[in-house]
Amino acid sequence: MPPHNMKIADFSYNSPAHRLVFGWGARAALKEELGRLNVCRPMLVCSARAARSSEVAGLARSLGLTDESVFSGVGSHAPLHSAYEGWQRASALKADCLISFGGGSASDTMKGIALACAEDGRILDFTLERLPDGSLKNPLSTRAKLPSVAIPTTVSGAEITAAFALTEETGKKILFRDASVAPRLLVYDPELMTSVPSRSMSESGMNALAHTIEALYSKARNPISRIHAREGVPLLYRGLHAIAMGSAQRDDYTALALGAYYAGVSITNARTALHHSICHKLGPAVGLTHGMTNAIMLPRVLEFNLPAVRDELAAVGELIQEANVGVSARTPEDAIAAIQALAQRAGLPSRLRDVNVSRKKLPALAQVILNEPGLAFNPRPVESAAQIEAILDSAW
Ligand SMILES: [Fe+2]
Repeated sequence: MPPHNMKIADFSYNSPAHRLVFGWGARAALKEELGRLNVCRPMLVCSARAARSSEVAGLARSLGLTDESVFSGVGSHAPLHSAYEGWQRASALKADCLISFGGGSASDTMKGIALACAEDGRILDFTLERLPDGSLKNPLSTRAKLPSVAIPTTVSGAEITAAFALTEETGKKILFRDASVAPRLLVYDPELMTSVPSRSMSESGMNALAHTIEALYSKARNPISRIHAREGVPLLYRGLHAIAMGSAQRDDYTALALGAYYAGVSITNARTALHHSICHKLGPAVGLTHGMTNAIMLPRVLEFNLPAVRDELAAVGELIQEANVGVSARTPEDAIAAIQALAQRAGLPSRLRDVNVSRKKLPALAQVILNEPGLAFNPRPVESAAQIEAILDSAW
């Protein structure tokens, strides 16, 4: 249904407060951009692997960073302890700015460091929780934050959102939502994505695609988040298709990066729903990346939500056709199949059993997922752990 025929309900909209510098080679503008922020002692936040890369070496050189100013403690799923270590390093350096370089774990770790710096390490006072009555508890930090900059190398979109997650050593993922720690400057340089393994890009892209689709049907969506989500789907599908086919060129990476930006902006308002609730708990519990859990679970969750979102998934099918890569998706069922086929073309696994997930873990996981805040935004009500277990089981 075209938007001008829809009844427009009242809504509120959160505009993400950042400057975006977008383009092939855009990282070259970083020094000048930092000048606009009026900072002089930045600390770079990245993984140990990224710290050894020529890209980080080049950035460190151009900004005149010492080895100590490159905090290389970022790990998979953004460990909580890394945020504490980064806070201590930033305090010792008297850093006046944080710069993340990498995927979602790098920017989430940076958000954790920014919160810890502002609140003397009391990160856990500000967790987002779903209370037994279904309401959300979200204490906000009011103290001033260090300005931060994100240079994403994947398409998670994590640098855009107020939401972030840190993972305890037990595998428990702790959720936060605080717009004051979101980066003020985003430098999107799709050229950086060409040095990321295509498998990682495919996983990350399936995450971004899931953001647009959850944003299209989330109960928290609004007319503006809808525009961003709709723009994101064909760009992401096109870029992911090219990467899967091994034919990705500059324009495909650029499409992927812009699609990921739209995806991230869309969930700033629409949030994420059941699919991400499952992924947030499943990934750390069974040792899968966020992208991989997205690739496996998205078609299964869409099948569950299908009765409640037939129109929205039909629209997704039309948008996939707009990607112009020869995929026909005329029905909601076709749209789900096209998403599954995309993941398969990229060589991503489609079943949990294929990535060594024990079926025995699923009932307990379903119980934990039932308390996830995102369930409140799912278009089809989720009333029992048995429903979630059935979805997990269908993916097994
Ligand atoms: Fe995600």
